[in-house]
Amino acid sequence: MIKKAIILCGGTGSRMFPLTHSINKQLLPVYDKPMFYYPLSLMMLCGIKEYVFVINQGQELNFRKALGNPDDLGIRVEFVVQKNPKGLPDAFIITKELIKNQSIAMILGDNFFYGNMLSPIIKDSFKIKNGCNIYIYPSNKTSAYGVVEFDKKNKIKKIIEKPNKTNSNSIITGLYVFDKNVSNFAKKLKPSRRNELEIVDLINLYKRKNKLKVIKLGRGSAWMDVGNFFDLQSTSNFIENIEQRQSFKIGCIEEIALNNKWINK
Ligand code: TTP
Repeated sequence: MIKKAIILCGGTGSRMFPLTHSINKQLLPVYDKPMFYYPLSLMMLCGIKEYVFVINQGQELNFRKALGNPDDLGIRVEFVVQKNPKGLPDAFIITKELIKNQSIAMILGDNFFYGNMLSPIIKDSFKIKNGCNIYIYPSNKTSAYGVVEFDKKNKIKKIIEKPNKTNSNSIITGLYVFDKNVSNFAKKLKPSRRNELEIVDLINLYKRKNKLKVIKLGRGSAWMDVGNFFDLQSTSNFIENIEQRQSFKIGCIEEIALNNKWINK
């Protein structure tokens, strides 16, 4: 069972300049909360109590202020600074000592997941002993993401990064689970043409060993990558809409901690 998650909150945030010149993207408001509350709340719903936040230099105080005291949520948080945005798999290299030979989840700090039955499905997938899990979602924006192609028997054929042409609509979302070998495998990767370590290369290493599992998030759920202004706005509107209609909050970390009985009233 997965016990720890990395919340990936570094990066350049160049699509959101000038807002991200002074502050990490994941601290920007998405409707009524900082962006990173949403991926954190999903992990809390899945029962994860230990976190490693990968952040940019000089941002720890901001994250600590935005989060408040982790004890008040019944969680443990450690911060690791990523000096340069060398790519997603770099997170597993710089947090090797904290991963401590266990399977680990990683979720991007700018990803929003929402839907009935989503957390039970993900929680169940966290029972992994070895290998790698990825979570796919139907989307027509295949040229912007990693894509999984399937053969006629619905077996994984290929994982490709940002294809210009593909017959698949299954994109890889920003949630991953890897076994204890991940840091060593990440170290074997070579930077791509854009000079980053690529998560698709890491996933392909597991695929070649027949240790890749694909979990489908259904069309009844919502997944948004809040990495540009348009998506920031539309995700905020989505959350506002649901919160206003239901009078329930999305991504309320205090409520989740209380329901999990990690804190009392
Ligand atoms: P991206 O959105 O792919 O990259 P970015 O945040 O640098 O933004 P842009 O493309 O606009 O310049 O990153 C996805 C998530 O991963 C995001 O939460 C930032 C984080 N990230 C890191 O923490 N370290 C990294 O080295 C990279 C590339 C991303």
